[in-house]
Amino acid sequence: MTHTHWWQEVVVYQIYPRSFNDSNGDGIGDINGIIEKLDYLEKLGIGAIWLSPVYQSPNDDNGYDISDYQAIMTEFGTMAEMDRLIAEAKRRGIQLIMDLVVNHTSDEHAWFVEAKASTDSKYRDFYVWRKPVNGQIPNNLQSTFLGPAWELDEATGEYYLHLFSKKQPDLNWENPEMRQAIYDMMNFWIDKGIGGFRMDVIDLVGKLPDQEITGNGPKLHDYLQEMNRETFGKHDLLTVGETWGATPEIAKLYSHPDRQELSMVFQFEHVGLDEVPGKSKWDLRPLPINELKNVLSKWQTELGNDGWNSLFWNNHDLPRIVSRWGNDHIYRVESAKMFAILLHMMKGTPYIYQGEEIGMTNKPISSYEEIEDIESRNFYHDRLEKGYSEAEIFTSINAKGRDNARTPMQWDANKHAGFTTGTPWLSVNPNYTGINVAQALADPTSIFYTYQQLIQLRKEHPIIVWGDFELLTDTVDEIFAYYRHYQGDTWLIVANFSEQIQPFHVTHSVEKTLISNMSEYTLTTGDNYLPPYATFAVKLGDTV
Ligand code: NOJ
Repeated sequence: MTHTHWWQEVVVYQIYPRSFNDSNGDGIGDINGIIEKLDYLEKLGIGAIWLSPVYQSPNDDNGYDISDYQAIMTEFGTMAEMDRLIAEAKRRGIQLIMDLVVNHTSDEHAWFVEAKASTDSKYRDFYVWRKPVNGQIPNNLQSTFLGPAWELDEATGEYYLHLFSKKQPDLNWENPEMRQAIYDMMNFWIDKGIGGFRMDVIDLVGKLPDQEITGNGPKLHDYLQEMNRETFGKHDLLTVGETWGATPEIAKLYSHPDRQELSMVFQFEHVGLDEVPGKSKWDLRPLPINELKNVLSKWQTELGNDGWNSLFWNNHDLPRIVSRWGNDHIYRVESAKMFAILLHMMKGTPYIYQGEEIGMTNKPISSYEEIEDIESRNFYHDRLEKGYSEAEIFTSINAKGRDNARTPMQWDANKHAGFTTGTPWLSVNPNYTGINVAQALADPTSIFYTYQQLIQLRKEHPIIVWGDFELLTDTVDEIFAYYRHYQGDTWLIVANFSEQIQPFHVTHSVEKTLISNMSEYTLTTGDNYLPPYATFAVKLGDTV
């Protein structure tokens, strides 16, 4: 790497504002609530916050349906408070990364309201409208939230496209005036001194609806290069695209340093490994650990210097990793720390989702009334109609539903976990009395301090940021082990990804243990028998 960037060296923390911290007792997290917790985040050591949407929104999809990009949702606070958040974060060395949702707006956005009101409005073409074909829906495009992606507008007799809910009409990126309006809005935020953008489903903006092409359309990269030129390209900002369909080759198109597009993308190949191939996210199979190793290793090695990885297990759309692929009962602490060490020792920019740093878990539910998320509600109806039993449906929702990640942050053992003095918009996980920030901060062996230590190690050891990655393949399946190599040094990272004792042979002398999740057990040269979830990062010396 000849040219390095701040965003390669930091750890990013994602805040889902609705569920983070409520400062005014209305049961909904808010901007002042985030400001109150900045000292906590500084203590953790992060360098940036990815803030899920805080813009004005009717909340059909919890803020991912924006009705005004330049106004703050009333429940969250004011623009003045937002300015203060940006400044207060910066004072602590933390950049603010805004969520950029520009594949679609809310149907309550002024552009769509005008577009709908008149076919002559210039805003009509800001969206994607099609006439009926033989009196029918234009084609078979489906919404991610289930059902057709076309909605009939009775007044004009035309359909509009919505790849998500019908309250999220898709923008028409082929319209240059629309694109310019988006760039102006981005510059409004850049001028406020933000640190970058996380770009919601950005791979969809090049869609060709008539050909039923949604992801990776032919003009996608032209648009991103234009966006780069018109907005963040003049500044060194962190830009990360949400790209569900990315392969390493595609990721290089986005993030190659010479292409002037994005800093990095979120790839999701590892995220789908516990799904039955060819079926939906709801149809589950056990995680094939070898595939996980191979997929992550492929991403680590194939980007090389031609792109940059983002590293994550969790976000607001995914179940909690410790419940999903770890053990959230007797090995909760060990497995949460294993995931932390495995990920943060890889090459790329790591992301922590709120609550991950204290090992928050999924929250099981058993009735329809407990479902808050639009995706899970639609899924419930769809599967019921298709003849699935309630038990089957809840097995899927409890495993994969998005509410799992969205339960309020657990701050302390007080009522509602200290998240609010009112009634939380989504119930707190009842395990908050044992799992909370106050408890984690008071216990020097907590998961929190593993994350803190990992972030500190990253600041001290360039090998973590820049070292080459090499997977060890001659291990039992349940051992996930890799080397990092940098300027003559080699680190070994080894994890027992199981609940059973597993053998592992170390072929070098062990010079130093950098971090581990075991207090009684150390990794040594020669034969080791690793306890459940035991994980180590060690510096190696010579071969013995
Ligand atoms: C991806 C976001 O992460 C998700 O929460 C949202 O529902 C969709 N994009 C639509 O904006």
